Amino acid sequence: MANFKTFFISQTLTLTLLFSTLVTATYHHNISPSLVRSREKLTHLHFYLHEIFTSEKPSNIVIDPPKVVASSPLPFGSQVVIEDPLTIGPDVKSKEIGKAQGFYLSATQRPGLELEIVMGMALTFLEGEFNGSSLSVLGRNKIFNEVRELPIIGGTGEFRFARGYILARTVKVDYHKGDATVEYNAYVYHYSSTSSSSSPHLFNQGLHLCHGDY
Ligand SMILES: *[C@@H]1O[C@H](CO)[C@@H](O)[C@H](O)[C@H]1NC(C)=O
Repeated sequence: MANFKTFFISQTLTLTLLFSTLVTATYHHNISPSLVRSREKLTHLHFYLHEIFTSEKPSNIVIDPPKVVASSPLPFGSQVVIEDPLTIGPDVKSKEIGKAQGFYLSATQRPGLELEIVMGMALTFLEGEFNGSSLSVLGRNKIFNEVRELPIIGGTGEFRFARGYILARTVKVDYHKGDATVEYNAYVYHYSSTSSSSSPHLFNQGLHLCHGDY
């Protein structure tokens, strides 16, 4: 009886393990990283971002300003939502190549002009090879420093697996209106989703390739 019980338990365990292995196998499997590594690219992007508070159609809006008396133009806790144009040149009327959508938060309690913001945004490109692809950016931006560094933490389309950094430099700012033009130099490692060289089906299982359609 005892032996039968042991046998039964061990059989149940084996079956359970076998079953869980089968279940596990249905939702993930390993892919050799060498299939993507050979396609790694390093790209430098150069463009200008325009923050426009004052216009009939502002590209930045301030959300629910905190009720605090502060000497700062952007008191601790302020939130700004952005849909800023990205252009090829410093002139806002130069060719638009993409947009920055996201937010920034005033994240320092220090009063005055030493603004420190935390920025989160998707930079989506609308021209050429990178049309429809985007970069995700999240980091601290001490906006009155000459050059600020922001991390690139991901991407889509041509920028899948993206990682890198941005050097941002303000080229023009109107302190009364808050409007600003910022030069962006982005350096990004990425793997294209469309290179034909190796098994794109491995990375788009069950999906139609719809590059540029998102
Ligand atoms: C970018 O892609 C969209 C969607 O596929 C397309 O409608 C648009 O014409 C493309 N723009 C350029 C400049 O190629």
